[in-house]
Amino acid sequence: MTIQPVLRNTPDLDAALTEARQHFLARHPQAQALHGKANAYLPGGNTRTVLYHGPVPIRVVRAEGARLFDADGHSYLDLLGEYSAGLFGHSHPAIRTALSRAAEAGLSFGAHGVDEIELAALITSRFASIERVRFTNSGTEANMMALALARVATGRQAIAVASGAYHGGVLYFAGGGSPVNMPGEVVLIPFNETEAARDILRAQGPRLAAILIEPMLGSGGCLPAHAAYIAMLREEATRAGALLVLDEVMTSRTGAGGAQALFGVTPDLTTLGKYMGGGMSFGAFGGRAELMDLFDPARPGALPHAGTFNNNVMTMAAGIVAMRDLFPPQVAQAHTARGEAFRARLNALFAQLGVGWCASGLGSLMTLHPLRQMPTRPADLAAADDRLRELLFLDLLEAGVYLARRGYIALSLALTEADLDLAVSAIGAALERRLALHAA
Ligand SMILES: Cc1ncc(COP(=O)(O)O)c(C=O)c1O
Repeated sequence: MTIQPVLRNTPDLDAALTEARQHFLARHPQAQALHGKANAYLPGGNTRTVLYHGPVPIRVVRAEGARLFDADGHSYLDLLGEYSAGLFGHSHPAIRTALSRAAEAGLSFGAHGVDEIELAALITSRFASIERVRFTNSGTEANMMALALARVATGRQAIAVASGAYHGGVLYFAGGGSPVNMPGEVVLIPFNETEAARDILRAQGPRLAAILIEPMLGSGGCLPAHAAYIAMLREEATRAGALLVLDEVMTSRTGAGGAQALFGVTPDLTTLGKYMGGGMSFGAFGGRAELMDLFDPARPGALPHAGTFNNNVMTMAAGIVAMRDLFPPQVAQAHTARGEAFRARLNALFAQLGVGWCASGLGSLMTLHPLRQMPTRPADLAAADDRLRELLFLDLLEAGVYLARRGYIALSLALTEADLDLAVSAIGAALERRLALHAA
């Protein structure tokens, strides 16, 4: 069934958007000039699709704590937190110190180092299901390696994933799958539809190497899985003899032991990324020793896992400070509670203003949707009018608040209580400014 977008007061909304875009352009002459220049060398002036927004993207020249500064001299309260990789704020002094020490000790040894032992120990002690871990350079790579391992370990090829899930640039499953996805047999299951997904998994079980799942669809709109859905996936993976791979690239920051602890689920493999390298390029996959030890290079017939920068000293050093000093389990718990409280405040604000907006999410990760009804499945998002997302995004930029164009927010530790108050009042003011459109 196709759900038609709810189009609100179309001519007024189009006019408001045109006016907001013009206003943005007038306030961003440098962004326009730089975009023109960038277009000559980078397709669309861009090298990371998700960052693009119209009419031209802002160009950031500096960042500090929870603030960004653009080429046009504007500053922004940063609610996006580098899509969750910027958990510690920009240029945290402890991370800077770790990085300068690492740089002084020498970059790229081309040999085993010492720091990778400590970072691996921190990770395995934090996530109950991870007995051994290996590092990669991105979350995408971590998922690719976990799936390769699942295929080898089971001798099967097919991977079950949720429609609408994002597991990396070549593992994106909205709209049936991205044209640049890595090749491989994929079985699509509906997200948060427990019985419908179970039927497919039962039918396809003997072909499945793995079920790969985000505990919360992150890029897909911060839609947390129902606990019963995750429990069903665990059950069906075991029944089929397939591996359950939990993609915690985003959600591992939730609570003391990641979403797996919250859901009480034990995956066979977990993939990690984002903030865990202290803001450096990072990815990791880990799980049961018996599976991961297939990579033990001292074993005859060991699986190869290459990567020039897998144990790069900057990431290892920053990762230790991040996980040991800045984000121990009790801080993770407190930050999760803070995020829950912030999201509740936003939803209370929307109700008080009578606007058709809601905030979905888990802990410090959330997405604002131009919808009255809280979405729980990707299909629920089809009813959103994307023009309202752009309007709010541009109005918030003007107010000096930065979030993702799609409404995504990943709260960083650098945000103070005063910053969060400021964010709530800026969002409230932006909605009130065009109340007729947002409340229609
Ligand atoms: C759930 C999830 N998995 C994997 C990835 C890919 O990570 P990376 O961008 O480091 O390749 C992302 C990135 O947004 C993600 O949100």
